[in-house]
Amino acid sequence: MSIISTIMEFIHLLQNRRSKRKFTTQKVETEKVESLMQAALMSPTGKRKNHWDFIFIETPETLVKLSECKPHGAKLIAGAPLAVVVIGDPQQSDTWVEDCSIASIILQLQAEALGLGSCWVQIHNREHDSTTMADTYTKTLLGIPEEKAVLSVVAMGYPDETKKAFDLSELMQEKIHREGF
Ligand SMILES: Cc1cc2nc3c(=O)[nH]c(=O)nc-3n(C[C@H](O)[C@H](O)[C@H](O)COP(=O)(O)O)c2cc1C
Repeated sequence: MSIISTIMEFIHLLQNRRSKRKFTTQKVETEKVESLMQAALMSPTGKRKNHWDFIFIETPETLVKLSECKPHGAKLIAGAPLAVVVIGDPQQSDTWVEDCSIASIILQLQAEALGLGSCWVQIHNREHDSTTMADTYTKTLLGIPEEKAVLSVVAMGYPDETKKAFDLSELMQEKIHREGF
């Protein structure tokens, strides 16, 4: 494969990865779920400590409860056939936010490569209500140990909406600096 076609293939994936929040009812095939698990486990971590955990959820009732983790921006989980809860361990790793963020985007890119759509739902630093954090709600719902922390939920499935791909000629070139700010 030529360098140009290799570049084009990955850029094409990145161009087409837009957040999808509507999904068909089609289940994600077992082979695809397994490859998403492999992708998560290969995501890089500080010092390769791997202080993360992933909960794959396909049970509709649990997905509905998970969608109630925060008042805004989480309802889409209820309509997804699959959601992955990305969990870190702040006591074990001072790079847990970075590690879990990388794993979240790796899951999204692998989902895209598998023909699935996905959306990141932020849990860390978000409120469930005036007294409970979304993190605490999620940990209680799923039996996650108290000392862990939930960074995100990546909802995914076959998309039931289309989104415009990024136009390479419209990217914010002014954000790119060379040799200094
Ligand atoms: C750190 C982070 C947190 C996000 N949290 C949410 C969220 O809670 N709910 C949601 O619907 N989308 C969430 N998103 C998706 C963004 O809204 C989305 O990426 C953004 O609007 C750009 O759209 P695009 O992904 O199609 O480029 C989040 C994305 C990131 C990177």
